[in-house]
Amino acid sequence: MTDKIAYTRHDDVAVLRIQNPPVNALSQAVRQGLWDAMDRAEADEGVRAVLIVGEGRAFIAGADITEFGKPPMEPNLPALCTRIEASPLLVVASMHGVSLGGGLEIALGAHYRIAQPSARIGLPEVHLGLIPGAGGTQRLPRLAGVEKSLDMITSGRQVKAAEALDMGVVDRVAEGDPEAVGLSYVSELLAEGATRRPVSELPAAPAIDWDATYNAVLQKGRGQISPATAVRAVQAASELSFAEGMAKERDLFMELMGTDQRQGMIHAFFSERAVGNLPELKGVTPRDLKAIGVIGGGTMGAGIATAALLSGFDVVLIEMTVDAAEAAHGRISGNLSGALKRGKISQEKFDTLTQKALTVSTDYDSLKDVDLVVEAVFENMDVKKEVFGKLDAVCKAGCILASNTSYLDVDEIAAATSRPADVIGLHFFSPAHIMKLLEVVVAEQTAPDVVATGFALGKALGKISVRAGVCDGFIGNRILATYRTAADHMVLDGASPYQIDKALVDFGFAMGPFAVADLAGLDIGWMTRKRKAPDRHPAERVPTYIDRLCEEGHFGQKTGEGYYLYEAGKRAGVPNPKISELVAAEQAELGITPRPFTDEEIVRRYMCAMVNEAAKVVGEGIARRPLDVDMTLLFGYGFPRYWGGPMKWADIVGLDTVLADIEAYASEDAWFWQPAPLLKKLVADGRTFDDLNKDAAK
Ligand code: 3HC
Ligand code: NAI
Repeated sequence: MTDKIAYTRHDDVAVLRIQNPPVNALSQAVRQGLWDAMDRAEADEGVRAVLIVGEGRAFIAGADITEFGKPPMEPNLPALCTRIEASPLLVVASMHGVSLGGGLEIALGAHYRIAQPSARIGLPEVHLGLIPGAGGTQRLPRLAGVEKSLDMITSGRQVKAAEALDMGVVDRVAEGDPEAVGLSYVSELLAEGATRRPVSELPAAPAIDWDATYNAVLQKGRGQISPATAVRAVQAASELSFAEGMAKERDLFMELMGTDQRQGMIHAFFSERAVGNLPELKGVTPRDLKAIGVIGGGTMGAGIATAALLSGFDVVLIEMTVDAAEAAHGRISGNLSGALKRGKISQEKFDTLTQKALTVSTDYDSLKDVDLVVEAVFENMDVKKEVFGKLDAVCKAGCILASNTSYLDVDEIAAATSRPADVIGLHFFSPAHIMKLLEVVVAEQTAPDVVATGFALGKALGKISVRAGVCDGFIGNRILATYRTAADHMVLDGASPYQIDKALVDFGFAMGPFAVADLAGLDIGWMTRKRKAPDRHPAERVPTYIDRLCEEGHFGQKTGEGYYLYEAGKRAGVPNPKISELVAAEQAELGITPRPFTDEEIVRRYMCAMVNEAAKVVGEGIARRPLDVDMTLLFGYGFPRYWGGPMKWADIVGLDTVLADIEAYASEDAWFWQPAPLLKKLVADGRTFDDLNKDAAK
């Protein structure tokens, strides 16, 4: 027996305690240990029942994800669940913390289940591009019915103990030490003369309209295949014998194991955890944060203040005038009433946050006690410098001064203060209380504990924080500017913005780039083009057709007209006929004969532009690792999670083919398509972006 399972006897009960920190993942050693411990219990004279418990913070978090993609090792998980279920002894699982994926499947192999009130169960395999592969799709419907099982399996949603009890998945909820409450439940069952109750022997769940359900789930998945595949597995539970259903589940599971989507989603899972893991943060203590200052209560300032209030910080917000301060208070209250309506906070909490925790003022002196200030005023260097000068004068020593600037030079902003080591960029995304991404922009002189505090704040706010260096647009907006330009070039050359948006939504993006531009406001890009015009290289192709629309005062959704026309109150628009006229006029002016594009070419050019700029961002050290780019695009720019991020996408399709495409495009426009030196080097060395991630983890 391996040391992963502790075996103890309590009268006529054998307790199997899983000891595989931190979350008792079902590695080969755990599977073998459980198998051997079942053998031992069955051979142990006088044992009538087995109780399975987990040590530490969880019952079992599922299969060991690090084993995926490697050769399978016996015993496999479905066989183990079946072996547990087939035991002549009475088997009970006592669950605490999480029981996820294979963890829940082990519990479903037991004959009875007891859970702590705080326990959560779930089958989150779809988040890894998989389906449950150890009987979850066959046993759960026999207990909870088809509809509830499909909801859990296709969404990957975790369910709390009380709901699991209602669903019939657990038999009892009781508070106390998992082993103690488990043992008393087992004694009760034995005293009652309870018999084994294998879930596989329960009647199969009734049929539903499987094809309609499959199609609905497929559509909702926006290109993700595993949730729809799960419908077919549950269908097998209804139509086939248990053994045949298990075989079908296994086939579908193994099929998904071989997909790019599984690779992409598992890359996302580990990258999400690795992104905050930076050598420069090791052993560095972040500064204490209690009160946060916010300068400017517009779109971003109000969102940042909301996020900070919801995470328990006191907030002091500064605006220019009393009217603007009132408007900012109104925006924050509006955001918080959204949280109230969704049941995230109580009325009492709402009152405390809006009346006690939040101070809105026009007087910078109100900031003297705050621990960190985030500036979110207009995107203008002179205004920012003036604000930072004032902050430097009023804020206490050790207070961190952060800018939410989208593009501007944080070194230049820092130079406007006498404490550049305390200055950092904290780039939130709109709406700041909802979007998960935070770019922590480290300037030349930023002190290590200030960087650590940026990450600590991100964690406290529930964000995914990514370290970025200083450059125009940092990681995300710099890469965005390039792939947006590639899309603009395609429009000039003959693809319509609507074909491009559709091709990219079909690829898996939440929205196409032109719909996004309308949402963000066309004035932002217009202003940026004007700002950059003086430094423009003569070979740079910059479409100007959309500037004509901006000159007429049309800025997208907020004015009702942009690439699309928007009816009042509706978020989705219809194509604006003016766009094709403006594009045609510019094509005529430039002597361009429009040509057709396939959706495939659109995606390819867009992605190549993204990867090429991303490789420059990594090569220059603006992003430390390819995975930092992946997480930025995933959490800030609606990149489809099932591709893992643009760098993972490039690894999957092959860096050599990506480079070959870029070089082919360069024959038309050598200025725009300059291959990134890092990409060329990786191809020459036969290495991948993921190899760089691995190098960084060493
Ligand atoms: N396998 C391997 N490692 C795992 C793991 C797993 N199933 N689950 C978590 N870990 C690792 C994490 O990578 C992390 O490692 P690190 O410290 O080196 O970064 C460590 O355990 C702690 O994890 P978290 O930082 O995520 O800790 P939290 O407390 O925030 O969350 C959790 C714990 C809720 C269990 C979360 O880790 C999680 O959701 N894990 C994945 C659960 C899952 O997807 N299970 C299904 C697996 S697939 C399966 O079972 C297939 C089967 O049907 C055949
Ligand atoms: P906004 O125009 O909605 O709000 C700016 C606010 O700052 C206004 O309410 C204004 O009254 C106030 N303000 C200006 N000067 C001030 C001063 N000296 N003292 C106090 N208040 C002052 O602008 P928005 O969109 O909130 O942007 C703010 C910053 O955030 C900019 O740097 C922008 O680039 C950045 N940003 C914007 C994003 C967006 O999607 N809107 C996303 C990420 C960053």
